[in-house]
Amino acid sequence: MYTHTSESRELNLVVSTRCNLHCSYCFLHKNNSYIKEDDNIKKALEDGSFFDNIGKSLDKMNYLKSSFTAINLWGAETTVHLDLLSKSLGRIFNEYHNINQFNFSTNMAYDVNQIIGLLKTIEEVAPRPITVNLQVSIDGPNSVLDKTRMVKNEVIRYNVDQIIDYCNSHVMKNLAIAIIYKTTIPYNIMAEVCSSKSSYVDYVGFFNDEMCRFESRSINKRLTFKTPNCISCAPVAPTDFTTEQGIYAADRARFIDQFDLRQEGLKYFWATNLPLDLYNHPYKYNEQYTSSAACGQGDNVLLFRWDGSIVPCTSAIMEDDPNYIKEVEGDGQWDKGIDTILPWFIYPNRDDISPAEIKRQLQFKKDFWKYHFQYLKTVTLAMMYDMAEIKQISELYRSDSRALLRHGLKIITRTACYYNNMKSNGDPFIPQAGIIRIACNGILEFADVKGC
Ligand SMILES: C[S@@+](CC[C@H](N)C(=O)[O-])C[C@H]1O[C@@H](n2cnc3c(N)ncnc32)[C@H](O)[C@@H]1O
Ligand code: SF4
Repeated sequence: MYTHTSESRELNLVVSTRCNLHCSYCFLHKNNSYIKEDDNIKKALEDGSFFDNIGKSLDKMNYLKSSFTAINLWGAETTVHLDLLSKSLGRIFNEYHNINQFNFSTNMAYDVNQIIGLLKTIEEVAPRPITVNLQVSIDGPNSVLDKTRMVKNEVIRYNVDQIIDYCNSHVMKNLAIAIIYKTTIPYNIMAEVCSSKSSYVDYVGFFNDEMCRFESRSINKRLTFKTPNCISCAPVAPTDFTTEQGIYAADRARFIDQFDLRQEGLKYFWATNLPLDLYNHPYKYNEQYTSSAACGQGDNVLLFRWDGSIVPCTSAIMEDDPNYIKEVEGDGQWDKGIDTILPWFIYPNRDDISPAEIKRQLQFKKDFWKYHFQYLKTVTLAMMYDMAEIKQISELYRSDSRALLRHGLKIITRTACYYNNMKSNGDPFIPQAGIIRIACNGILEFADVKGC
């Protein structure tokens, strides 16, 4: 979670824009400019200019390399050029001497030797302890995966096993690794999974089995396995849930609650109530008053491309490319976003942009995040009240101001995505009504009653 008080920064890097998969919900493989960009990335990693360019940008921004504490890799499939990146790791750990975390997400279906090679290199060259958080995008059992990622679980499992076995046969002094499974669930799949007890148990049971399998196979205490992001799955963005879908999801949440999953022999029987999870349930009540829910992109979190330019969102890696703009113009969903996102890119290395202008842009980002949450809180609560009046969501939010505030603060964790707001509404301060429609039709009331 991004905090405004922290001085530490995250160095996010776009290390590939190519992918071996074609996931149904992913935008990355659907545009040619991503493919072309990948050649530039590969070349810059090969000739070393990738990190030279980022270094030049940081100098121009007057940012110290020592202010970075984490590296996060972004891309299409992050692992396709890991061998090239590994060659620069010694240099990176020395130059950015406060980095102690290395994070990336992978489909785990490309070439596991690239990942093992990276782990080996980190262990060899890291001058201090490094934690690697390895997020594996795996949407569930094959019945789900066949529809979303079109890859078999057996492939992912085989590759995860290679990593476990590697760790089992190596003493790791400077390295701690967490394998973190993550699900991304489109609404129609969520509805399908939750339509019967057996399909639901199939979903939950899958993660239960994976956890048990890990426990029986791994003997290295420095390797851990987590599934929090399957318990709280990510909904596909952009999202435009309808009132009917909201009512259905609320019904499903109650339906699922009737299952006594312990009887199914599930060790992690508590694992998940998918409809509730679409809004990060369960929530910690007190945290809602202090969290900003913001990603902090462009402020403490800087997402660099190979040429040293800074991208405004992990979903907007190529949105300033003229070819990209030409391709998506007129496709409806993206029209508003394209116009509004362009001023949010920062190009520290461009000769026609002065240091004063770079400073202004960076200050703008700082100010933006400082006030974004407060504005959005007000707008979200006002929208909830109005939507309750016209019966798009539960009328509770008109009559019970405590519930309005409590649940409003809850769903801000979803409505505070400035980029998706821009894409949907052309304005970072107007939340997607669909998020409110699905969350405020009884699901959160139900969560309250359950005492979550
Ligand atoms: C874009 S991928 C890049 C890393 C890697 N290829 C992977 O799949 O993990 C990062 C994450 O974004 C998620 N994702 C892709 N398209 C999405 C969308 N339209 N809405 C929400 N998440 C999405 C993926 O499921 C994945 O977990
Ligand atoms: S593996 Fe990742 S980048 Fe590739 S298509 Fe799927 S979500 Fe997109």
